[in-house]
Amino acid sequence: MRASVVWMVLTMAAAVLQHCSSGGGDHSSHPDMISELPGQPPVGFRQFAGYITVDESKERALFYYFAEAEGDPLSKPLVLWLNGGPGCSSVGVGAFSENGPFRPSGQMLVRNEYSWNREANMLYLESPAGVGFSYSADDSYYGRVDDRLTARDNLVFLRRWFSKFPRYKDRDLFIAGESYLMVQFNKRRNVFNLKGIALGNPVLEFATDFNSRAEFLWSHGLISDSTYRVFSSACNYSRYVSEYYRGSLSPVCSRVMTQVTRETSRFVDKYDVTLDVCISSVLSQSKILAPQQVAERIDVCVEDETVNYLNRKDVQSALHARLDGVSRWSVCSSVLEYDFLNLEIPTINVVGSLVRAGIPVLVYSGDQDSVIPLTGSRTLVQRLAEELGMKTTVGGWTQVYGNALSFATIRGASHEAPFSQPERSLVLFQAFLRGNPLPETF
Ligand SMILES: *[C@@H]1O[C@H](CO)[C@@H](O)[C@H](O)[C@H]1NC(C)=O
Repeated sequence: MRASVVWMVLTMAAAVLQHCSSGGGDHSSHPDMISELPGQPPVGFRQFAGYITVDESKERALFYYFAEAEGDPLSKPLVLWLNGGPGCSSVGVGAFSENGPFRPSGQMLVRNEYSWNREANMLYLESPAGVGFSYSADDSYYGRVDDRLTARDNLVFLRRWFSKFPRYKDRDLFIAGESYLMVQFNKRRNVFNLKGIALGNPVLEFATDFNSRAEFLWSHGLISDSTYRVFSSACNYSRYVSEYYRGSLSPVCSRVMTQVTRETSRFVDKYDVTLDVCISSVLSQSKILAPQQVAERIDVCVEDETVNYLNRKDVQSALHARLDGVSRWSVCSSVLEYDFLNLEIPTINVVGSLVRAGIPVLVYSGDQDSVIPLTGSRTLVQRLAEELGMKTTVGGWTQVYGNALSFATIRGASHEAPFSQPERSLVLFQAFLRGNPLPETF
């Protein structure tokens, strides 16, 4: 009963907004259309970018970048991509470093051969306000942002975005993202034609996810036996993070983390323990999931292509973007004071309710990530499947439960899987969108 009332109210609101919006069925004269991004090669798909106001009275607006699918966009689904952090940019990380059509290289943009817009219309949202080009004119907002507020704004965004792009309204919608996400966002799924959710290296349950780090580091030969022991008993990682964000770091946790940090060394990339290239922007979103004592932090990357590119005035003008309240665009927000204790709220239950409602969920792990290691995700997905009474239908490298819950690892991939394994990630993405069996090896 309640759900249908909510649904009616939202549809009505959407209809009203649509009536008032200027966006027609075809977007040829759409105000948000990008004529060309500086340095981009010629392409056969259209791009849009701009703002959607989510709160008029507070003048809060969220920035998006939308790359239509290459070839026959009308027949392809819509995918909303969200990066985590919380507080990091889906445009900077997702679109320009991971699965978008281009990657910045010097003054130019080069094509990403494995861009996900080959398969879908890709919508990248910078959320919440305070991240990237998204802003709140009233900056007192930044001091009290949490999951609830973010989810609310995201929902308003999506509804209003659909009224700006009405021809996508009834399209199959998938939501994909990595790291720290609010799956709650989709609770009112009736409003949208939601067909599936893909979560990469997600935080599903704080303690299980974070505490799987010790074993991952130990089994990859990155910490000693004795350090593994204290990291699992004296102070485990969930306790450390919990104390850290409460500003009450105990001497024992401080000692244990210093030891762990010394052994894993500055030169092992925690987000891909086998990778050794400069990927500072890609890393930033996870810094928050892996707080480090300041003295241990080292900036290995002097230059960051995405940061340079998105801070160019000509690029900002092509994107219809502007800086509000900050002097530079940055990968992860410098103004936002997110309520990080929200990390402790489990999202695995929401995954359960989505699966119960018949929405397919895919959890995938880049298998070289030590920040949210595959072992924790695998345990949580397996536990959920058991709870739901779902039987394994495919075993082995990928694991499928019933017909709505899957777990896969991407070989050789980092926390940001499409960054380090673009081809394998695209193969997985294709199978997921089409509802095909996951490839056995990739
Ligand atoms: C982590 O530490 C906390 C606090 O000491 C404890 O309650 C919890 O059981 C530990 N978890 C694991 C997996 O060891």
